[in-house]
Amino acid sequence: MNQVVLSLGPFQGITDAPFRNVFKRHFGGIDKFYTPFFTGIHKEEHAKNLQGEEIDPRYNDVETLTPQILSTDAEEILRFAKQCQQLGYKEINLNMGCPFPRVANKKRGCGLLPYPDKVEAMLDRVFDEIDIKFSVKCRLGYFNPEEIDAIIPIFNKYPLSELIIHPRIGKQLYKGEADVERFKALAPSINAPLVYNGDIVSVDSFQRISDVVWPVTQFMLGRGILANPFLAEQIKNDTAPTLDKTKRLHNYVLDLYEDRLHHAGGSPKVLGRMKELWSYLMNSFEEPQVVWRKIKKINVLKEYEDAVEAIFKEIPIK
Ligand SMILES: Cc1cc2nc3c(=O)[nH]c(=O)nc-3n(C[C@H](O)[C@H](O)[C@H](O)COP(=O)(O)O)c2cc1C
Repeated sequence: MNQVVLSLGPFQGITDAPFRNVFKRHFGGIDKFYTPFFTGIHKEEHAKNLQGEEIDPRYNDVETLTPQILSTDAEEILRFAKQCQQLGYKEINLNMGCPFPRVANKKRGCGLLPYPDKVEAMLDRVFDEIDIKFSVKCRLGYFNPEEIDAIIPIFNKYPLSELIIHPRIGKQLYKGEADVERFKALAPSINAPLVYNGDIVSVDSFQRISDVVWPVTQFMLGRGILANPFLAEQIKNDTAPTLDKTKRLHNYVLDLYEDRLHHAGGSPKVLGRMKELWSYLMNSFEEPQVVWRKIKKINVLKEYEDAVEAIFKEIPIK
């Protein structure tokens, strides 16, 4: 299965630069990464939020990382594209999938999908001037899964470098099942290289989904790989069998914590992001709820460190 291309889906609040770098040090199988979305790219030459580690090429691999923007303003997208290009990036991605009401109600993220005219006007202007690869991530719709039918002919007018479809609607948030059959039915009508995203949580579910969506061979992994960071290696069947899984998982969690702590100058605010990760990672263990109970209420660094040691000592991984 080595011919598949796997990417790590962006998660606001989890998959920031420290996460991506630590992940890469500990696990294989991921070919491509995306930043969680940027917003508010202001008019000045070098927007402040594009100056930090999250995008600085000294901390990121411009060849395999695609910065993502959440915007409906073509001028802002062009500013973002230009600055990313100056930093050495090869591609940007537009988020047309974010389902959170605060975003979607303003016709941003997947909230733009019911408005094909606005999508067309925006892309017309973007492709007038853009000089870097431009990809899109979207859902089937915001209110209903037919919205994408009017959007695909618009996407097809432009040379998108890829189209990532997460086949849910915005109103579902992350609940219910991804509609793999609908993705399959849409695939032949799409010109751009197509990427499937949604509900890949195990090698079995990957096999089931990839059988349905074939000949699509590009997949974005989401909550499944946060829960089981070995997932991409397992899908590609390239896990080194001699290394102990528990030890690898333990080292990863410790390394990420230390890295975050270092970046945060020792502040306990790192616990927020670590707990967010544990809300998925607990599923790597035989007793996820026992793991979560040990972690969820902790607000003190030492208590967190002790809880992690106890988890790895007492609870076997799956
Ligand atoms: C807390 C959270 C934050 C997310 N942040 C982003 C984001 O910044 N950009 C994006 O494209 N997707 C974001 N996503 C969506 C995931 O990348 C992914 O598309 C989604 O979880 C569906 O894939 P899955 O079913 O494999 O988990 C986020 C999801 C969650 C739950």
